[in-house]
Amino acid sequence: MCGIVAYVGPRDAQPILLDALSRLEYRGYDSAGLAILNGKGVEVRKKSGRIQELASACQKKPVQGRIGISHTRWATHGGATDINAHPHLDATGRLALVHNGVVENYLELKAKLAKAGHKFISETDTEILAHLVGDAFASSKAQGEERLVEAVRNAIKQVQGTLGIAVIHSDLPGLVVGARRGSPLVIGIGDGENFLASDTQALAPYTNRVVILQDQEVVALKAERYDIASPLGVRSDIKVEEIENGVTASDKGSYPHYMLKEIFEQVSSIQNAFRGRLDHDGATAKLGGLNLPSEELRRIERIAILGCGTALHAGMVGKYLIETLAKIPVETHHSSEFRYGDSPTSPHTLFFAVSQSGETADTLGALREAQRRGFPCLGVCNNVASTIARQSNGGVYMHSGPEIGVAATKSFTSQVAIFTLLGLLLGRLHTLSASAGHEILQSIESLPEKIGQALSHSDEIKKVAQKYAKTKSMLFLGRLANFPIAMEGALKMKEITYIHAEGYPSAELKHGVIALIDKETPTVLIATQDGVYDKNLGSLQEIKARSGRVIAVAHESDAKIKGLADDILPVPETHPLLQPLLNVIPLQLISYHVAVVLGRDVDKPRNLAKSVTVE
Ligand code: M6R
Repeated sequence: MCGIVAYVGPRDAQPILLDALSRLEYRGYDSAGLAILNGKGVEVRKKSGRIQELASACQKKPVQGRIGISHTRWATHGGATDINAHPHLDATGRLALVHNGVVENYLELKAKLAKAGHKFISETDTEILAHLVGDAFASSKAQGEERLVEAVRNAIKQVQGTLGIAVIHSDLPGLVVGARRGSPLVIGIGDGENFLASDTQALAPYTNRVVILQDQEVVALKAERYDIASPLGVRSDIKVEEIENGVTASDKGSYPHYMLKEIFEQVSSIQNAFRGRLDHDGATAKLGGLNLPSEELRRIERIAILGCGTALHAGMVGKYLIETLAKIPVETHHSSEFRYGDSPTSPHTLFFAVSQSGETADTLGALREAQRRGFPCLGVCNNVASTIARQSNGGVYMHSGPEIGVAATKSFTSQVAIFTLLGLLLGRLHTLSASAGHEILQSIESLPEKIGQALSHSDEIKKVAQKYAKTKSMLFLGRLANFPIAMEGALKMKEITYIHAEGYPSAELKHGVIALIDKETPTVLIATQDGVYDKNLGSLQEIKARSGRVIAVAHESDAKIKGLADDILPVPETHPLLQPLLNVIPLQLISYHVAVVLGRDVDKPRNLAKSVTVE
């Protein structure tokens, strides 16, 4: 987590740092700070809270200077306070450092430094890193700018963990040193000015020319040049990439929150996920980005899907789709568990790493582990320039457009759309008939309209939300492909309303969860008419028999369930395999409306960040 921006050039650094930093707020938003070389020394401003708090502090007391570093934080070590906010200074107060990552051996390093007389004012691991670099600078024999580069290189050798850092020193007023190990850093190349940032989004208004720093590299960044070196030597084959600009935080338009806008955007984002990928002649799908010819796809015996949070839920729906359509066994893994676990892998397995941001550290780690074991791993990402998109051996882009709300919504339906296409493609390479393929293609084409229909119930859902907003705990139940939809509904409810919610397969109710049922604990039951509809009605009766209230996700036309459930979240009917894509929409909407009733910060819920770039 955390976002870093550094600037060196002829312009005033403060407004550039604040503006670029605000584009990284999705990476963390509990405190922010900047340090600028003002001609006399390092001047720092830091504030707990949003970047806006920092901007106000800087407006009251501006910092003048043409070189600086800045940071938006998601706390790992130490609370979200002014003091713990980055940048941190070394013992001399002449060196400032910002950090994205975790220093795992910070206690050991802290004890060593304390023994040597260092005093610390924050509770962070980053302050230790600043002191380490400061010490290495003091003892370095190198001259000029190489002295800071060498100090950074020597200091990070002592660190275990991940880091992306930017450092300035008042003795070297034209230099920013950046280093990367695990946490992404991008150099932005301007005209007589240069930038360093956690990702390209921060740089969009300033330059579209970037160099991606590789792992273990250190960069010496000046206004007119940049030099990159790794422990293996200086990088000479530097590839400057041109990125698509303008992909920045779109505005909310007439919507009060990004989340609501993004929920409503699903009518078009789903079209973008399917666009150009439907092959009517072959009754199949085209996914060129997989980079695998049909013969190789046919040889796949198993699929493994890696992801976290919502992305994993999409993978779980994907498992159902692929197993049903292509009869290929699919395993899903929490990225964090796969990365360090011993789960056996079978030969001829194709891996998928699913990630909206493409920067989730756990998923990146899991992808690398799969590759290390010799498996190809494809990405399903939204962010085209992301680390996961680059690291994977091919993949499928979601084309959802920027998702700003921390709660993932449109990215989920796009991910499920991609797995639908994959299931169709693999199914048609095996036993799925052309008529079954055509039926799916036709249903896909009518999906945008049906999504629009599901969204048209937003006001009704708002009324249901008002009724249940004061609840302390909720259950979400669904079966088969609607089980991950229940999990996704519960996750949305938890993260933006702070109401405790759990998602379970409906039939698990009687194996323990039923003990929670009473008048105060409502259950959202996904009960659209499918092969397990009657079974779901059985669960509904069991809940009602224990005085529980039931909110049913049901087909608009289902009169029977209206007489049984307390409230209905209506959805239109579609092909049974596509139904989960519609069923999730009222769950997104009910969480959204409950959060609004409760006055929550919908787009930036507490304790979270859009992109989780630390383990
Ligand atoms: O960017 P990613 O898709 O890799 O993010 C994965 C999760 O962190 C993310 O889906 C998270 O669970 C969302 N906040 C859920 O709304």
